[in-house]
Amino acid sequence: MAQQLPSKSATNSSSEDVDLAKESVKAFISALPARKGWSYPFVQYKSYWFRPEFLEQFLLVERCFKPRPDDIILATQPKCGTTWLKALAFTITNRSRYNFSDHPLLTRHPHHLVPFIEIPAVGADHTGVESLPSPRILATHMPLSLLPPGTGSCGCRVVYLCRDPKDALVSRLHFEKKLLEGFSLSMDAAVSMFCEGFSPYGPFWDHCLEYWRESVATANSTVLFLKYEEMKSDPLQVVRKLAEFLRVPFTQEEESSGVAEDVVKLCSFEKLTSLQVNQVGVVGLGNNVRLGNSAFYRKGQVGDWVNHMSQEMGKKIDSIVQHKLQGSGLVL
Ligand code: A3P
Repeated sequence: MAQQLPSKSATNSSSEDVDLAKESVKAFISALPARKGWSYPFVQYKSYWFRPEFLEQFLLVERCFKPRPDDIILATQPKCGTTWLKALAFTITNRSRYNFSDHPLLTRHPHHLVPFIEIPAVGADHTGVESLPSPRILATHMPLSLLPPGTGSCGCRVVYLCRDPKDALVSRLHFEKKLLEGFSLSMDAAVSMFCEGFSPYGPFWDHCLEYWRESVATANSTVLFLKYEEMKSDPLQVVRKLAEFLRVPFTQEEESSGVAEDVVKLCSFEKLTSLQVNQVGVVGLGNNVRLGNSAFYRKGQVGDWVNHMSQEMGKKIDSIVQHKLQGSGLVL
């Protein structure tokens, strides 16, 4: 069935119109295919699976979100290193504003410093990102094809971070239990759902492929495609690459005084998890989801999947992902 959204008459309009738009978006979402299995039920929109309240926000944002040429958009699937990427991009782009010994990251969670496009700050609504001053750093879990038209061509920079799907899935399973107390899901069931393409913001491979193809088509000039594994193995190189891509390369003087190394250290798993702000307190993701600040940090390792899933499960994921990525040049 074709998925037709109600018209966008509510763009930039009165609160009454916005309420009406909300109602029509809710009604639209309630008619989408729905499926249970993860901690919360998901709906399928344009072949991807979303939590209904996040899709609702997204469809409302889509009506008023205007990408700006100096926007930086950090795109990920959940559990692929979003928190780390937010910390890095924020630190790199704001390094002339803040002293490293008195830095916002020392007292604020990366999710508080870099907002999601489709997840409003607590108490705010979908118009929140429009009021942010330029240059904005924004994050999203949305697939590229669902970002507002013009996002790719307006000059803004998109950084996409992906991860070995097996590690992302293990990370997800742990996260699911934090999302919903008492929730339990076997690894076997999670692997089966994942391999069917039924995962949060999934199918995993399609999400990666969309950004990958754009990064190839634009020779990495619009979309910079990164992997968690390369960030772990050579963070300094990736930090330099990121700074270059974000049009704020490190100067000779900064290189000589070790600024790139300082960025890596400040954003490292070890440093962030040692900070009180990342051990206590709460991150609000929208108006209904509250999570401990520590929920976004677990092990921060590559290859932890071997401790949580069997070799057969690993092979099953690898073979489906390889098959889906065949011919694209992308290897995960
Ligand atoms: P694990 O559960 O495998 O440890 P997201 O931010 O997209 O939700 O991803 C969370 C994953 O990134 C978790 O993986 C978390 O531990 C890891 N992570 C968070 N901050 C990190 C950092 N600074 N360096 C490396 N990994 C980090």
